[in-house]
Amino acid sequence: PKPVRNVCFVGAGYVGGPTAAVIAHQNPSINVTVVDKDQRRIRRWNSRHLPIYEPGLADIVRVARDGLLPFGKEDEQLSARKPNLFFSSDVSKSIAESDIVLIAVNTPTKTRGAGSGRATDMTSFEAVAAEVVRHAKPGTIIVEKSTVPCRTAEMIQEMIRIQRPGTHFEILSNPEFLAAGTAVQDLLNPDRIIIGSAPTPEGRTAGETLAGVYASWIDRSRILTTNVWSSELAKLVANSMLAQRLSSINSISAICEATGAEVKEVSAAIGRDARLGDKFLRAGIGFGGSCFAKDINSLAYIAESLGLHEVAEYWRQVLKINNYQRDRFAARVIQRLRNTLVTKKVTVLGYAFKKNTSDTREAPALEIIKTLLDENPREIAVYDPCCNPYVIENEIRSLQNHGSPALNEDGGPVMVYSDAYEACAGANAIIIVTDFDEFRNEPIAAVVKGSAETQTSEIQNRFNVEPECAADCPDCHTTYGESTDHTYTAKEQLDWSRISTDMTSPKWLFDGRCIIDASKMSKLGIRVESIGSAGLGV
Ligand code: UDX
Repeated sequence: PKPVRNVCFVGAGYVGGPTAAVIAHQNPSINVTVVDKDQRRIRRWNSRHLPIYEPGLADIVRVARDGLLPFGKEDEQLSARKPNLFFSSDVSKSIAESDIVLIAVNTPTKTRGAGSGRATDMTSFEAVAAEVVRHAKPGTIIVEKSTVPCRTAEMIQEMIRIQRPGTHFEILSNPEFLAAGTAVQDLLNPDRIIIGSAPTPEGRTAGETLAGVYASWIDRSRILTTNVWSSELAKLVANSMLAQRLSSINSISAICEATGAEVKEVSAAIGRDARLGDKFLRAGIGFGGSCFAKDINSLAYIAESLGLHEVAEYWRQVLKINNYQRDRFAARVIQRLRNTLVTKKVTVLGYAFKKNTSDTREAPALEIIKTLLDENPREIAVYDPCCNPYVIENEIRSLQNHGSPALNEDGGPVMVYSDAYEACAGANAIIIVTDFDEFRNEPIAAVVKGSAETQTSEIQNRFNVEPECAADCPDCHTTYGESTDHTYTAKEQLDWSRISTDMTSPKWLFDGRCIIDASKMSKLGIRVESIGSAGLGV
């Protein structure tokens, strides 16, 4: 394979930014440039306030973009390095200078026209692909990083045939599997890297060139090579099957609520079957995020276009259960509040689609707030520990409240707080919408026993966090990883007795993420209803 000097990412978003930063960080000899036509976004990537929040990202950018030592290690006698991560809005120049160009733009679901609400909107991808084809030097490797429908590479090859006849480019598919909130960890330590290439010697060589970039920090055994179509499809299937698992357990949670079975116990019991595995079995108000719904829609649309209607219907059912789960929960809240919110204050804890991220895309919170608004509540308070209140306010502003504004500032009932206690003060009901550790009422401190492996998976399952020790853990940095008991402590948690004192009766807590110990909460005078648990119902 050819030596790689310059790599360009087109699209400075959730995928392009972090992926480029980690590739640059791990390959000091390669210059990585992220380009985007949105100059404001590029300015933010070049500033101290990155446009997205991901744990560990600021440190990686500091090293690769600024050539500085990581935070906390400034005093170490490490040699600083030359910056090799750049952010620019000069798209065509950077494309023209690169050996590898990765396209990492948004591929949302179409909102109008043929396939609206189902097919993938390829507008941005197609525009960028055309720009890459126009400016790339012959031999540049073009990589699909965005999640795209199966056989997209063919579309790019056709563009090449028309725009640059006689010029040769290899197209690779290299989907990204990072999850919001753990992007840096996922990139540094991925389960696998998939590189799809044409089944020709040139195709395989191009695949090897890209593999070489990853191999500087990822074991070769984790880098899988496939044909382009398998790689494109694998990404859609991975996300669809993860989502399917959630809809499966969420559908069971409805049976639990009606029978007195506990979904947490059911998950724990089935998760011990090695064939099923214990991850991704937490029942809740349903999945959000930018990927799952869009990828299932895309998969179902592909099936449909191939005439495979039963297959399409099968996958669409995953989405139906997801909406059903969210609406079922909102209905339960309203019913418990005796079908009227007119004089009541309801507090929504968490707005992001999952913990440790400020990402609000497809977050169930907005839909739940919409349903509550229909009841004409006295107040809906919203608090999220990660999201900027202005961002939440802007999204709420787009809601209709029977023709009048939704947001408090505009005279509506929804008020966004930056303090959890203020948000909960006077509330008749609190709804946990996101699984932030801060909201839990059992202290996330536990002594975990067993081998390193069982410790890791127990911490992940009980707390849904990557095991990371508290600074004051006496054993941690020396003994963790060996067969020694390990203490895990989480960040600061809410003082629920303080919240209870300030609440107004009936003091309800609706746990949409199964993170609350109901018996403890009831000692504080708060009545709890959880997903997948009968509560007062059976
Ligand atoms: C997902 C995939 O995990 C990732 O590989 C892909 O690249 C992008 O899509 P992401 O959407 O960031 O990542 O988050 P993920 O952790 O997968 O969670 C998705 C949703 O499922 C969240 O709303 C989360 O709260 C929910 N979830 C997850 C559950 O309700 N229960 C679980 O057990 C796990």
